[in-house]
Amino acid sequence: MSVNREQFGSKLGFILAAAGSAVGIGNLVGFPVNATKNGGAAFLLIYALFVVLICLPVMLAELAAGRHTQRNPIGAYKKLAPGQRGWHVGGWLSVVTPFMIAVFYMVITVWILGYLFGAVSGNLDLLAQEGYFVSYITSNAVYFQLIVLTALIVFILYRGVAEGIERGAKLMMPALFVLLLCLVIFVLTLDNAFSGVKFYLVPDFGKLTPAVISNALSQAFFSLSLGMGILITYGSYMKQQDSIASSAKMVALADTSVAFLAGLLIIPAIFSFNPNTNTAELSDSSVSMIFNFLPKIFLALQTSIGYFGASLVASVFFLLVFFAALTSQVSIMQVPLASLQDEMGYSRSKSLGILCAGAGLLTLFCILSFGKVAFLTEFMHYAGQPKSFFDVTIDIFYDTILPLNGFFICLLVIYRWKKANLDAELELGDEGYKGSLLERYVNFSLKTIIPVILLLIFINTVALKYFGVSLIG
Ligand code: PHE
Repeated sequence: MSVNREQFGSKLGFILAAAGSAVGIGNLVGFPVNATKNGGAAFLLIYALFVVLICLPVMLAELAAGRHTQRNPIGAYKKLAPGQRGWHVGGWLSVVTPFMIAVFYMVITVWILGYLFGAVSGNLDLLAQEGYFVSYITSNAVYFQLIVLTALIVFILYRGVAEGIERGAKLMMPALFVLLLCLVIFVLTLDNAFSGVKFYLVPDFGKLTPAVISNALSQAFFSLSLGMGILITYGSYMKQQDSIASSAKMVALADTSVAFLAGLLIIPAIFSFNPNTNTAELSDSSVSMIFNFLPKIFLALQTSIGYFGASLVASVFFLLVFFAALTSQVSIMQVPLASLQDEMGYSRSKSLGILCAGAGLLTLFCILSFGKVAFLTEFMHYAGQPKSFFDVTIDIFYDTILPLNGFFICLLVIYRWKKANLDAELELGDEGYKGSLLERYVNFSLKTIIPVILLLIFINTVALKYFGVSLIG
């Protein structure tokens, strides 16, 4: 099986594909929303610290486990803990989680595509209307856009790791970076933009409560695509002569830079729209920021650059977010796809067919859970609130299980596979890693602080989400 395993064509190709996975809606919108609400550069600083101190070691652990075993997460857990069924639960969770995250992320990506179509076809005024979002998500256009998006994802995945995923990332990632830079430069020329820059870059450490700090870690963890089995899977396509550590550092740097630049785009845009913005009143949710708030900001640009100019800016923005979401979506679907291929021995097309049918059905359930089908709209009740199927999927798989998966991979790699084997894998293709400070830190942190912190986050989330009890304030 491993003899014929596909591989990324080059180290750069791997870095772009992994960065394509990491850079997503989380960076472009989730991060700026969080930074705006939680102390600007103070949040950025904490976020960057978490990327280096917590996320980087977990990235290395996932990539090393993947490259060593040459398997999807289920296969990797099986190979590193042969015959020990308890451990295999971790592998299953690392496949079910990305599958379910792919479902809710698909819904958001469909909406982005819908708004991209809207902006390109000259309907920015409609997108900016109060109440448009609610009518859009229950409209029939969504089904058509779902089909278009599914076809695009299947096209990329069907072509394989090097010809599909890597090639797509090589096209979309540089384009994304250029589009982002152009938008940042443009926004910084707007009136009052600099009050936004000041708001962003002058840290307000008073906002850093325990809850905000925990939020920064969750944000960093999600943003780097950790706990989703993605890096285990992508690691299995890495060449042995490429350094895992230096690739991972590049991915983390690219991801954090995009988050930083996105802050420099969104926060000044908000302030130029309204210099007296009370950031406490802005919504906490990325979804509401992208679909309710930003179209209004883009439309307001028509007074200075005309309706066409405003539509162009909005189109570029939605294209940018669409590229980011598409490369993430492709990476996450590759996890269950590789699992079906490796574990069941199915062909790529058969695996893709099964995956599309399953994910398509659940995505439809999500789409129907915005008021169309009562059972799905009020799917569950917890912490005193009714929750739709879409909400439940996010709460369980994104908010709750993600840190748990991170916890399991730390334990697997250090306590089951053992440190010496991890070191040996990370030293392959990287002479400088042996005995380095990074090596010592990775071994120490994966064994101690990181699993403890991830477990605490998991416990706190369960208490907060399902019982309405906040343990850390
Ligand atoms: N890193 C992605 C983001 O920031 C998270 C993600 C990855 C989501 C893959 C879905 C699929 O948005």
